[in-house]
Amino acid sequence: MGSLDTKTKELFLSIAHQWRQPLSGINSIVGAMDNRLYELQLDDEILHQHLLEIEKLTRYMSDTIEAFKIDYIEATKEEDLLLSELFTQTLELVAQNFQDSAIELELNLDVKSHFSGDAKLLKQVLLIFLNNAKDALIERNVYKPKLFIKVCEDTNSFFIHICDNAGGIPKSMRDKIFDKNFTTKHDSEGTGLGLFMCKEHIENTFKGSLNVNNRADGVCFDIILPKE
Ligand SMILES: Nc1ncnc2c1ncn2[C@@H]1O[C@H](COP(=O)(O)OP(=O)(O)OP(=O)(O)O)[C@@H](O)[C@H]1O
Ligand SMILES: [Mg+2]
Repeated sequence: MGSLDTKTKELFLSIAHQWRQPLSGINSIVGAMDNRLYELQLDDEILHQHLLEIEKLTRYMSDTIEAFKIDYIEATKEEDLLLSELFTQTLELVAQNFQDSAIELELNLDVKSHFSGDAKLLKQVLLIFLNNAKDALIERNVYKPKLFIKVCEDTNSFFIHICDNAGGIPKSMRDKIFDKNFTTKHDSEGTGLGLFMCKEHIENTFKGSLNVNNRADGVCFDIILPKE
């Protein structure tokens, strides 16, 4: 299924990411309503059947979107991709979007090695940082919005710096941004899962580290990925 064009893939991954949280929210609310009916001894069989049906449907929607993701996106997983190529491919996914918002991209790729882990997963993780930066740059209406990416390596590790000039993250929030469900965005725009997933995958799947640091006019996410 490598024939899906990059724009379609990007759209698909955004939908999958944005729908996961509300779907599981609806699913648990419906379950809670059904429990409440039971507690109140309102055993209306028809209502109970309807609620079960909604639960089943939301679960089905979650499962199918995950299955599509695996079939259409992850099936094209390339092993042992040059890290520089992995970046180029990821940036292709957002290039048009960035261009439409007049966001300048400064790229400094100083790596020659292959990335031997799950390339698809790393791309998804990188996309989350890129989309967050784009959101912040647009939301804050930044003058000359810019994204800086620097990637280098030594014998044992890759070092990835993703920085922007969107004004940064207030100190009081710095510890919370990686928490599950933490978001400053409106309900319909953010689920607060993005950075949580990034941290989870960088630390646990890739056995690396993720740090956030403010710079003069924005924020830098610093990622270290061990090569083995
Ligand atoms: N580059 C950035 N500049 C400023 N704030 C940021 C940046 N990246 C993330 N944030 C802050 O961190 C919060 C959490 O980000 P995270 O990606 O986890 O969730 P989200 O973008 O709000 O929602 P979603 O789960 O839909 O991605 C954001 O709501 C935002 O306040
Ligand atoms: Mg996000």
